Amino acid sequence: MSQTHHPEAGMVLVGAIARGLYARRFELVAFLLVTQEIRSGSHLLGSQLGHLIGLASVAVVLLVPWSRHRVLATLRRSRRARAWGLALRQAGYPAHTYRLPRILRLDQMLTGERLELLLPPGIDASELIRCSDRLAVALQAGRVTVAANPHNAARVQVQVMRRDPLAGPSGIAWPHANRERLSLWEPIPVGLDEKGAVVRISLAERNVLIGGEPGAGKSSALSMLVATAALDPGARLWLLDGKLVELAPWSGCADGSAGVRVDDAVRLLRVVRDEMEARYLDLLKRKRRKVSPEDGLPFHVVVCDELAHYLNSGEKRDRAEFAELLRDLVSRGRAAGVIVLAATQKPASDVVPTSLRDLFGFRWALRCSTPQASDTILGSGWASAGYSATTIDSASRGLGYLLHEGGEPNRMRAFYLNDQQVEALAERAEALRQVTR
Ligand SMILES: Nc1ncnc2c1ncn2[C@@H]1O[C@H](COP(=O)(O)OP(=O)(O)OP(=O)(O)O)[C@@H](O)[C@H]1O
Ligand SMILES: [Mg+2]
Repeated sequence: MSQTHHPEAGMVLVGAIARGLYARRFELVAFLLVTQEIRSGSHLLGSQLGHLIGLASVAVVLLVPWSRHRVLATLRRSRRARAWGLALRQAGYPAHTYRLPRILRLDQMLTGERLELLLPPGIDASELIRCSDRLAVALQAGRVTVAANPHNAARVQVQVMRRDPLAGPSGIAWPHANRERLSLWEPIPVGLDEKGAVVRISLAERNVLIGGEPGAGKSSALSMLVATAALDPGARLWLLDGKLVELAPWSGCADGSAGVRVDDAVRLLRVVRDEMEARYLDLLKRKRRKVSPEDGLPFHVVVCDELAHYLNSGEKRDRAEFAELLRDLVSRGRAAGVIVLAATQKPASDVVPTSLRDLFGFRWALRCSTPQASDTILGSGWASAGYSATTIDSASRGLGYLLHEGGEPNRMRAFYLNDQQVEALAERAEALRQVTR
């Protein structure tokens, strides 16, 4: 036993020393250069003068801002790389290899650090994802998220979250709250991301799915999108309100509304489906494949607040027809100018099956109670990569992850419209529609 143990222990020791020396290569090279300079100076000019010249050259390097910054930046980088390597090992990153992901770039953000890493050959991003929670512990951070680069599997982006600039109870005002008129062809500001940048979404050819536990801020998030549709006098609005009161302010702008009854909702969706069929015939006549701003064809915006209500109550036949009509509108409506905005309190697979979820271009997960619920909205695998809406504090309403198809979830705080602002916007929208129709 001891015979096989010793060489292994020796290898581990040699490996550890080699790793330690390699991690301090910059400091070692700098030390050797300085001592060598002093030694050759002493040799040529005598020991006193040699020492002086050696020290003077070190002083020059440190006094000239350009070289001082370079030296300090390299020292900082070297120290960070060592701390990162130590954290990875403490987090249980595969120890069979001495090659660790290399830091290509490190940015200080409002929230903590963002690193771009280069993975060594033979290891994929799943190893980092697997130990992301333990990495957060090793780095004494709140959370660590890992996102793969779709263009280069060897590069991953890691966010170390130390502060949350988006947390807190107060709402951030919607920048369009005082607008007189809006267009659905223009991007809609919906919130602020962790860098403080405004997050915008373009609804043309997109559907939006919002999920989150009761009180997470779904209806408030929907209200910015509904307000934009209402203030676009060309857009036609179809409202399905499982709670009756959430969309009530917009009913004066709507072409059709349904309340809690599932059969009413089915009738309304049939009308929209007929509009969609008529639109495709119209496009065929115009030799167009999809609506465009020049056509002047109005968007049909279907808003469904509380999807779970329509899919879980009423007659079974109505529920099935509702699900089928909604799926049809979401899957075929894009090119015809039909936009579906749906919110659900219960992000579970019976309400939002994967096949339906994947048809939504924008998926917005507000606070959820389980990682499965968060993944039901965003897509499977995001929660384990650190993008889980369960990590959101219940006091921070409107905080969540917005995923635009193909990208990575963007942690953001939704803007907020209070009841008075919604009322004022709805009044303006009604007046605008009366004038323009
Ligand atoms: N972006 C926000 N910023 C600040 N506060 C917010 C925000 N969104 C919502 N809130 C607060 O949270 C409360 C609940 O929001 P909202 O009604 O939108 O939640 P919900 O997810 O629709 O809830 P439910 O599932 O019960 O319908 C609001 O009355 C408001 O006080
Ligand atoms: Mg609601």
